[in-house]
Amino acid sequence: MVKEAGCEEEVKRLKKELKEYGFKQLYSEVIRDMIPEINEIGGRLSKKYGRPVMDNISWRVKSPESIAKKLLRKGKTVSAENALETLNDLAGIRIVCSFQDDVFRMSRAIQKIPGFTVVKVKNYIIKPKASGYRSIHIIGEVLYGEETVRIEVQVRSVAMNYWAILDHQLCYKNDNKESEKLRKELRDCAIAIANIDKQFLKLRRQIERI
Ligand code: GTP
Ligand code: MG
Repeated sequence: MVKEAGCEEEVKRLKKELKEYGFKQLYSEVIRDMIPEINEIGGRLSKKYGRPVMDNISWRVKSPESIAKKLLRKGKTVSAENALETLNDLAGIRIVCSFQDDVFRMSRAIQKIPGFTVVKVKNYIIKPKASGYRSIHIIGEVLYGEETVRIEVQVRSVAMNYWAILDHQLCYKNDNKESEKLRKELRDCAIAIANIDKQFLKLRRQIERI
């Protein structure tokens, strides 16, 4: 809290810089253009497999407060220029799929969206984070007029989302509350939930064979 209280001035300046750049409007517009493409993919895959593959989709443009905190955490000066240059998740879309295999299908299809140039894919399902976090992150760029806008698309299953939401509330980036014992328990929960996710997939496949 002490650290955050000290960055009020920096946040104020950042807000002004971002406003001048038209940040919120530009980034929201780019996201709003991408959502129908994703919904179309979700609809197409759901039709193909005869069941809903996508549970829900949400998006957000990162707030100036959160941008400032992240830049400070990375040891960078708080400025719009640094934010636009170094942060991948100023524009974020989160897609929650029903089953694990849907996550892979969805993320493969997203990488083929015309005009969306993939910069990096982080597969935290094949290689979960030390915390236990699982998801696929696709970082890509969209050209919008003269501007290149980077977007982070997170794709995860309902089960992975369940863990991530509770972890976010309890621990993530809350260093003072985080003890090694708690971290291990959260990791154990992530493993247990991942096993249930696999069990549900197996169950679905059994039912599909009937
Ligand atoms: P951040 O500073 O967390 O954005 O990390 P990063 O830019 O190095 O990217 P990374 O792929 O590690 O994480 C990006 C985003 O994934 C975060 O903003 C969260 O939304 C989510 N995330 C990553 N790790 C965790 C985790 O351990 N728990 C939860 N709940 N979410 C996570
Ligand atoms: Mg982030």
